[in-house]
Formats: sequence, C-alpha cells, structure tokens
Amino acid sequence: MFRLKTGTLSFMPYDTFFEQELATLKSEGRYRIFADLERHANNSPIATWHSPTGPKSVIVWCSNDYLGMSHHPSVIEAAISATEKYGAGSGGTRNISGTNHLHVELERTIAKLHEKEAGLVFSSGYVANEASLCALAKGLPNCVAFCDEKIHASMIQGISHARVPKHIFSHNNLDQLRQQLSQYDKAQPKLIAFVSVYSMEGDFAPIETICDLAKEYNALTYLDEVHAVGIYGKGGAGRANELNQQHRIDVIQGNFAKAYGVIGGYITGSKILVDYVRSVAAGFIFTTSLPPMVASAATTSIKTLRDADDLRHKLWDNVNLLKNLLSKTQVNYYHTPSHIVPVVIGNAGLCKEFTDTLLNDFGIYVQPINYPTVPKGEERMRLTVTPFHTKEMIHQMVDALNAVWGSFFMKMAG
Ligand SMILES: Cc1ncc(COP(=O)(O)O)c(C=O)c1O
Repeated sequence: MFRLKTGTLSFMPYDTFFEQELATLKSEGRYRIFADLERHANNSPIATWHSPTGPKSVIVWCSNDYLGMSHHPSVIEAAISATEKYGAGSGGTRNISGTNHLHVELERTIAKLHEKEAGLVFSSGYVANEASLCALAKGLPNCVAFCDEKIHASMIQGISHARVPKHIFSHNNLDQLRQQLSQYDKAQPKLIAFVSVYSMEGDFAPIETICDLAKEYNALTYLDEVHAVGIYGKGGAGRANELNQQHRIDVIQGNFAKAYGVIGGYITGSKILVDYVRSVAAGFIFTTSLPPMVASAATTSIKTLRDADDLRHKLWDNVNLLKNLLSKTQVNYYHTPSHIVPVVIGNAGLCKEFTDTLLNDFGIYVQPINYPTVPKGEERMRLTVTPFHTKEMIHQMVDALNAVWGSFFMKMAG
C-alpha cells in the first residue's frame, strides 16, 4: 500500500496502481504484446510462432539482424569454440578479472574498422551511448549538448544523466543547429549528438555539414552508427566512412546487435578520449563484461562483413525490389534512401490491428511501433528485408500489405 500524492489522500495497493497504468496503455492501444518466436538458425527469415492456438510458421519482416549474421556459420562456430575454450561468462567487470584477450582483440578490430586510435566495448549499444555521453557531457566543464530530436533514447538518457544544458534541434535542421551553436562562446565546450541512419525514419544525417558546423563552432561530434555498421561504407565501416567523413567525427558509436547479428555496443575515438571514458563511465566500470564467446562472435562477424560485398548487394537488391513493388500499391510508406522502410499507420490501435491481421491471416510477423518509440499519431510498421528473403516472400509481403491496406481503408470509409 502507498499514499497517492495528488487529490484526496488515500492508500492504494501497489498492484492496483500498476494495473490502472496498464489499463491506460491498453485503452490507448499501446500495450505491447511480444510475439513468442523461435528464429531458426538454418532457415532464416522463417520462424516458429508459438501462437495461442499452437506453433505456426511465420516469416519475420522486422528483424534488425539485417544481414542474417546471427546465423552465419563462422559466427556460430566462433561462439561455440570460444565457449568451449573460455566458458560461458567473463567472470567479472573489466576492472575485476573480466578483461579477456577476446575483448582486447574486439576493441582493436572496431578501432581499425573506423580508422580510430582506440575502441571500447560495452554490454550493449544502449549502454555505450548512455555511459559515454553521460561521461563526456558531465566531464567537460560547462558543456552544452546539441541533439537532433530523433536521437535514440539511450543518447537522451546519457545527456539527461549528465545534467548539462541541452538544445534539441528539429530533425536534420541545420539552420536551427547553427542558430543554437552560435549563442555560445567558441571556447565553451559543446557536444553534438546525432545518428547516421535514423532507424524509425529510415533517413540519413547530413554528416558532412554537421562536421562543418562542429568545426566552425568548436564542438565535439558524437555519431551513432548502430544502423549503419556492417551495411554502409567500405567493408561495412558505416555512413561516415562512406562519405569520407570518419576522420572528422570525434566519437563513432556502434553496436554488434544489428547487422553484426550478435550483441554489445562500442565507441571508437582518440586514445585519450576513449581512455577517459574507460576511466570514468559508470556504465562501463560497474557491470560485468560481455562473455568471451560474444566478443569472439562479434569480431568474427565484423571481419566476415569486411569482405562481404556480395551479401550487401543481395540486401540492396531485395530492398530495391521491396520499394519498387510498394511504389505500385496504395500503401503509405516512406521513400527512404536507406535499407529501412517505414509504413505509417498513424494510430496505435489500427497499427496493432493491421499487424495482427498480417500475422494471423498471412503468417507475416511485423511488430507495431508505438509511442514513446515514435510520436503519438505516427505509429508505424518498420519493414526490414534481408538477403535471405526470397523474391516470392517479397511479392507475398507486398500483396498482403496491399490487401490489408485496402480492407482497412474500406472499413474506415464505411
Ligand atoms: C540508434 C540506436 N542507437 C542505439 C541503440 C541501442 O543498441 P542496442 O540494441 O545494442 O542496445 C539502438 C537500438 O535499437 C538504436 O536504434
């Protein structure tokens, strides 16, 4: 029982409070139901869905395992052999016996990937952002942060935890960013936080111009390349690499959980900056390090993708086919330059109904995306095709989307 702060003072059982909050989420159509899936290492993108009426075969259309590396034979083999050699866990934080040679090798690999002096590995991309941005913004005296409004929740959390003044500029609005930067003395520390491929919009950051502004106003640049590494740039080194801007970014952050198909996050940068974050970031210091098998699988995945233009070409062939087929339908999708294709429904309840129909009637699994991941009224599906979707699967997906889209419009009109 606890006492409510507002209104008439009364005691309420804790569970009653939580139940009421959940009822609100349900009434707004925002209550999240996870699909109980078994993804198959030898049959991607097909999965078994443990539906309320029993197991059913479905095709996954929303995975961030963009290149199917989670089931690449070399990555699986690396995880198995490292487990056999070093065991299942790392044994501690990096400070207390948790540094394994495989972590060191992984850090060298990411530094080389981004042509930076050093790298630092975290337990996830979320933790890498939260811990590094907090450490940098808090540590720099009188730092002011500048953030694109669409940066990831982990970046917002890191900057919020640093408790520094911050400016949010509207998405990719560089006039506004310039206006915000210009309010400060050139000598005052500034940090610009942005993302190379915005995962909910599927669009790109204007990296070059942001670097120009950072130079003009003497700001540190922090770029999240989570949805770009493995896919864009030479050997999968990311968008900054593709645009030949990597040397102009102070911190390139990424993860091993999307195109690399494993788990974990990282930053890369100068030796000194990375050493500083390593020395002060709570999210690095006070948590057990990644299991060696994960480090080994991640290193293998990065090295494999450095030489995997064929896989990237197959991805782009499928992305282009998907977009081309969608362009001939009435489905409202974003015409993105990236591999991500958002289909906006604009209502949480309808979006859920739409994805339920795809799942139940067509065996297609796409998770609905709601507030707070996207703003209210912009609820969407986020389609991600992989090199392993067949042409038939892509045609079937577009036909299904078009059919459900048509029936929803008829329902709304009626
Ligand atoms: C832009 C961005 N940054 C960071 C993260 C967090 O990465 P991780 O899933 O490795 O924690 C995500 C996750 O979806 C993301 O979309």
